[in-house]
Amino acid sequence: MNALIAPALLLIAGSGVNGLGFEIPSSAPTNSSGQLDAAPVGVSFEFFAFPEYFQQLPLTNFCLGQLHDASGSYSPVRIGGTTQDRATYNASLSSAVSYSVDSPDDAPETLTFGDSFMEIAGSYEGSVTIGLNRRLDNIDNTIAAAKVAKSKVATLYAIELGNEPNFFTSSDPIADGKSWTAAADAASQVLWQASVGSALDETSFAQAGVFFGVGTFNVSNLAQKEEEADTTQYVRSFCHHYYPQSASTADLDELMSHTEIVEGVSEFQSQVVAAQELDKDFVMGETNSATGGGGGISPTFGAGLWILDYVMQATILGVKQLFFHQGTIGNCPYCWWDESVNAPFYGAYTAALALSGASKVAQLDTGNSRFAAYAFYDSSDQPVRVLLYNSEYYTSGTRSSVSVTLSGIPSTSTSVSALRLTGDATTTTVGEGAITVGGQTFANATCELQGTKDMETTQATAGRATFTVQASEAMLIYL
Ligand SMILES: *[C@@H]1O[C@H](CO)[C@@H](O)[C@H](O)[C@H]1NC(C)=O
Ligand SMILES: *[C@@H]1O[C@H](CO)[C@@H](O)[C@H](O)[C@H]1NC(C)=O
Ligand SMILES: *[C@@H]1O[C@H](CO)[C@@H](O)[C@H](O)[C@H]1NC(C)=O
Ligand SMILES: *[C@@H]1O[C@H](CO)[C@@H](O)[C@H](O)[C@H]1NC(C)=O
Repeated sequence: MNALIAPALLLIAGSGVNGLGFEIPSSAPTNSSGQLDAAPVGVSFEFFAFPEYFQQLPLTNFCLGQLHDASGSYSPVRIGGTTQDRATYNASLSSAVSYSVDSPDDAPETLTFGDSFMEIAGSYEGSVTIGLNRRLDNIDNTIAAAKVAKSKVATLYAIELGNEPNFFTSSDPIADGKSWTAAADAASQVLWQASVGSALDETSFAQAGVFFGVGTFNVSNLAQKEEEADTTQYVRSFCHHYYPQSASTADLDELMSHTEIVEGVSEFQSQVVAAQELDKDFVMGETNSATGGGGGISPTFGAGLWILDYVMQATILGVKQLFFHQGTIGNCPYCWWDESVNAPFYGAYTAALALSGASKVAQLDTGNSRFAAYAFYDSSDQPVRVLLYNSEYYTSGTRSSVSVTLSGIPSTSTSVSALRLTGDATTTTVGEGAITVGGQTFANATCELQGTKDMETTQATAGRATFTVQASEAMLIYL
């Protein structure tokens, strides 16, 4: 508790409770997000594993359906990752993908894919971004694949040309034996966009950048090169990839901390601005808790809480959508589902619920403490929901809590209902203990919510109501 710096320390008359207080602005404040996308919470599937996700893992459709129910729109999907730059299109291949691996836990070093890969992508009803190969420097093959994507995927949003080119080296075919620099990459990106664009007879088709983290390879640098080369018309969106932790040094306390999340997301500010200045979308094209498939922290309830807060920070910054990566099935600690519905999914689902139908989201706290509060506004600029997040790290023993008084609740409400996202501890994984949203859990076989839904009711008096949020817990309040 004493680590919390109250933005407004309130002594509530009659209750004698010391705690935090937030006034809900009656219309979206100037520091709100811009107009939100209908479904900011997206999913990224590792290229080689994508057909398996849709054809052999029933939870994929079930859980995407659950996200659709939560947000009212289909989650956007991106297909790509490291193996997109190991993949070659083969028009004669009847299967979606062809590769061999020593162990089912491995990703293939090389693979081919056929038309049915794009047919599977085309069967998804939400928007789809497809990552194609640039690293192997076979532009004719990439153009052939892009043509199939264009013809088979009616909801195609964009095509990526290469994945995380900041990791390309001089020995990759695209480098042609020369050292691979940000300048070489930018020259290559603009050349490929123009060639693929003219072959497809398309503008506004490329998801450009696709950089891991922020370094010398970055969107503001690329955007400048796009302007110089007069190729901005080919770009629909710019993207970076973001993994706040690495599997080897992963720290869950840090991952879920509101102040750390605020700081981590703000590192992308100038990249988002660079995209916006060119009137292009900016997305987190691939993201998750920790690199290398995710570490020990990745399957936990705390990683779910991270998703919830991170999505809000990113959308406020101007990120249109975030694509949470799903890797090799069976070897993927951060995956939202495999044989079971995993802990991070609870955070993703709650984020989708919170943003559902909202036009704007505003952060009510100042970002200086571990307690976060957000207000969501509808298209008539009325506050409709509030999200409270207590990011104090809780593992065992006495669990602290914060008492929060919201004021400015629309005067028509005499009581408000709320959904609590909680778990036994931030370290809890599915199977180890309880993780619930509104008292319910997701069934492993169907992703359906099971158990009795528990909407907590709180009295509101003169537009004020008080809530108790435990350490490592969040509450979604319906005004
Ligand atoms: C393409 O697929 C066909 C059918 O499986 C196969 O016979 C052929 O060898 C493949 N070509 C390449 C270059 O992999
Ligand atoms: C972006 O890239 C340029 C050129 O590579 C570099 O000078 C600049 O420092 C980079 N920006 C960031 C935030 O790293
Ligand atoms: C945004 O504005 C609101 C209302 O004016 C304020 O309470 C809140 O602290 C601000 N948010 C941030 C992150 O500064
Ligand atoms: C889902 O599966 C996990 C792992 O097999 C199991 O421990 C857990 O109890 C199951 N969850 C539900 C809600 O049935």
